[in-house]
Amino acid sequence: MATDTPATPQTVPSEEAVRSALATVDDPEIHRPITDLGMVKSVEIAEDGAVHVGVYLTVSGCPMRETIVTRVSEAVRAVPGVTDVAVELDVMSEEQRRELATALRGGQAEREVPFARPDSLTRVYCVASGKGGVGKSSVTVNLAAAMAADGLKVGVVDADIYGHSVPRMLGTDGRPTQVENMIMPPSAHGVKVISIGMFTPGNAPVVWRGPMLHRALQQFLADVYWGDLDVLLLDLPPGTGDIAISVAQLVPNAEILVVTTPQQAAAEVAERAGAIAVQTHQKIVGVVENMSGLPCPHCDEMLDVFGSGGGERVAEGLTRATGAEVPVLGTIPIDLRLREGGDEGKPVVLSDPDSAAGKAIHSIASKLGGRQRGLAGMSLGITPRNKF
Ligand SMILES: Nc1ncnc2c1ncn2[C@@H]1O[C@H](COP(=O)(O)OP(=O)(O)OP(=O)(O)O)[C@@H](O)[C@H]1O
Ligand SMILES: [Mg+2]
Repeated sequence: MATDTPATPQTVPSEEAVRSALATVDDPEIHRPITDLGMVKSVEIAEDGAVHVGVYLTVSGCPMRETIVTRVSEAVRAVPGVTDVAVELDVMSEEQRRELATALRGGQAEREVPFARPDSLTRVYCVASGKGGVGKSSVTVNLAAAMAADGLKVGVVDADIYGHSVPRMLGTDGRPTQVENMIMPPSAHGVKVISIGMFTPGNAPVVWRGPMLHRALQQFLADVYWGDLDVLLLDLPPGTGDIAISVAQLVPNAEILVVTTPQQAAAEVAERAGAIAVQTHQKIVGVVENMSGLPCPHCDEMLDVFGSGGGERVAEGLTRATGAEVPVLGTIPIDLRLREGGDEGKPVVLSDPDSAAGKAIHSIASKLGGRQRGLAGMSLGITPRNKF
């Protein structure tokens, strides 16, 4: 800009001189020049030598704001020809903060979440519900096992950091191993699985909050070596909490699978949970109604233990809320073998595939797993002769 203008003593200071002065100002916390940190928003120099400097703070309400203002004012005031200094503060955008974080890591971007890449062929499903205990984890592990049995490459992230139950339901007490800087997940029934429970001693409860949870999930998705998956299922904790938001940020293309029971109350909360998708612009792939009826042991009737129609109601509500058709993908009856399978670590779809619950879950799995994807992920029915 004004840098080519020959500097005449006692005249208006050049922008270059002011920026050089700003380069001597260190951020009080990061201890690096504010010019290197992208914190200088603007420099305006008036005819009379008054300088206006715009400064970005990394966060709003930065406790160091006064120190920064003082340091900037002092440095600029020392430039010959400056008659006055005004400092105006602004706050960095999310994007700017990310760039700063990358710069601070020496240009090394945080490891990418492979599933978030636009060319990723992996279908990512978040299994969510508003209310606890409706069978999210049971549905997740059974869908995963059914898809793996159908020949798909499947991974499960136990994102229920407080109530991790996936490893037990899949019957694995394997621990992840570290290779170089990647985490290798254990497998059970052909399903790769990772859970916070694998990193905590015994059954110690995890008391992390927002940022730590986000970091853990980021690691599960980016630092775990999943290989080329067809499907990744995330078992979410109940409700519409931090984790759901984190997932939406980390894998924006993840689709939501809502689990509910036929009960009205459960349906209402499931609808609320699904409505979060509207805010995060995620697709709701469908609704699964679980515990829908108990097959009568003495007749062919179904007993509506938890009422009926919850799945339909949730699907209708979500269709209305999102403006996109949300189908009921299936209904799973109450089945003692499903619970036993969960307790024993052998999903019912494998131990009892012909049971009503096993069949229902298999049918849902084929709707989710068998959807179109790019040629790269499709089995062409050809076995390569040479492996290289
Ligand atoms: N269709 C079913 N028939 C019989 N038992 C079931 C069925 N679905 C789930 N259960 C049982 O209900 C209990 C709760 O299921 P699960 O843990 O899968 O629910 P969840 O939604 O993941 O719960 P949380 O919110 O605590 O994570 C488990 O004991 C499970 O075995
Ligand atoms: Mg669960």
